[in-house]
Amino acid sequence: MEKTQNYIQENKERFLNELLELLKIPSVSADASYTGDVRRTAEHVASSLMTAGADNVEICETAGHPVVYADKMIDASLPTVLVYGHYDVQPADPIDLWTSPPFEPVVKKTEIHPDGAIFARGACDDKGQMFMHVKAFEAMIKTGELPCNVKFMIEGEEEVGSANLGIFVKENKARLSADIILVSDTGMLANDVPSVTTGLRGLSYVEVEVTGPNRDLHSGLYGGCVANPINILAEMIASLHDENQRITIPGFYDRVVELTDEERSEMAKAPFSKEAYCKALDIENVFGEAGYSTMERGSIRPTLDVNGIWGGYIGQGAKTVIASKAYAKISMRLVPDQDPTEITNLFLHHFESIAPKGTRVKVTPHHGGEPAVTPIDSIGYAAASIAYEKTFGKKPIPVRSGGSIPIVAMFEKELGLKTVLMGFGLDSDAIHSPNEHFGLFNYYRGIETIPHFYVAYTELQKN
Ligand code: BES
Ligand code: MN
Ligand code: MN
Repeated sequence: MEKTQNYIQENKERFLNELLELLKIPSVSADASYTGDVRRTAEHVASSLMTAGADNVEICETAGHPVVYADKMIDASLPTVLVYGHYDVQPADPIDLWTSPPFEPVVKKTEIHPDGAIFARGACDDKGQMFMHVKAFEAMIKTGELPCNVKFMIEGEEEVGSANLGIFVKENKARLSADIILVSDTGMLANDVPSVTTGLRGLSYVEVEVTGPNRDLHSGLYGGCVANPINILAEMIASLHDENQRITIPGFYDRVVELTDEERSEMAKAPFSKEAYCKALDIENVFGEAGYSTMERGSIRPTLDVNGIWGGYIGQGAKTVIASKAYAKISMRLVPDQDPTEITNLFLHHFESIAPKGTRVKVTPHHGGEPAVTPIDSIGYAAASIAYEKTFGKKPIPVRSGGSIPIVAMFEKELGLKTVLMGFGLDSDAIHSPNEHFGLFNYYRGIETIPHFYVAYTELQKN
């Protein structure tokens, strides 16, 4: 790997400039007005894979945004690593809160990233992390040091639930056959505390609508006489947690796997400072389910959160009105062995059952995804551990994450493959928020670490 590592050092500046170019294309998958840009991004990714030396590069059509496929098969008797990532990004709004335009990437220094960080939508999630794989691959190809076969599957709909990728995977099982899946779309604990993600939460996402009277009413003439859908919705939502911040939906916890005391004390070894956590978020204290630490609340415990709520008059000044309808979007993060479809149904029945007389409730399910855990007693984990040790000088800590990547559970179900989650972002990198960024240290360290994974994995497979 010496030539590979030298190649990376010699091409650092170009690797950065190429990522900046990729970040300029606004590949917002959720907004149809960006459809052309999403496709241009797919083309850009495809051509960068081609230049890097991949074969069979293809932009694969789906019912939605395309999937980019590429591979390099050097020897059928060697293991095959399937790299997954996504080139789509979250919407950039609220745009006013960005200190520089979201699709005009710039490098700025921060307290946590003294060497500089790239500020742009998608810098960390996931264009920057996905592109690390393209560059690591390029370095191994150009130096003749690629030790095994590689396949790339880079999608454009992760941020909207990966519905079409599920179909793509089912229809392309042979083409996607591999020994392991490698993903950089998560984070690590700190730049001097490398970690490997060993679990992701699942997701059930619903939209609710509460209807009261058949039209908006004068709040003086009718106030006090009819159920106000906004008051009612607020009450219904408030009732979904009890005083211990446990979720009150009957059956919600039935399938939750409780960790053993041993597993919990192992988890508690990961460094965490409540003070630093609160300071970074400008809050006085943390909040959550009684009996669990903040780390646990954010990873091994399921949650229910309102993501948006609206209804009635929100314009300037005061308008005296009782709205006919009130709405909310609600996400539930799930842990093993909760099933998103079952949880959505439990929510639906419960929410309908608590609607008072004089109101009607509609629940519309959105996308969901199953939780996933990845084994630490596997060759994949061992290879990742060796790779991090080479570049960070210490072994990574296994940590379960609170985020979701629904396709990971699908990979196991459809392809029978385990995933290794080698993330290089930090929780403070503001993914999905204004001023998303990705440290230059993290970008380069990722590119340097990935080739070591390939070597270690190939070696371990042989034995
Ligand atoms: N890369 C994130 C997920 C993530 C981030 C996992 C950090 C662990 C650590 C991914 O792009 C994402 O945002 N997923 C969505 C789910 C999807 C169905 C919209 C999420 O978690 O909200
Ligand atoms: Mn992502
Ligand atoms: Mn995301």
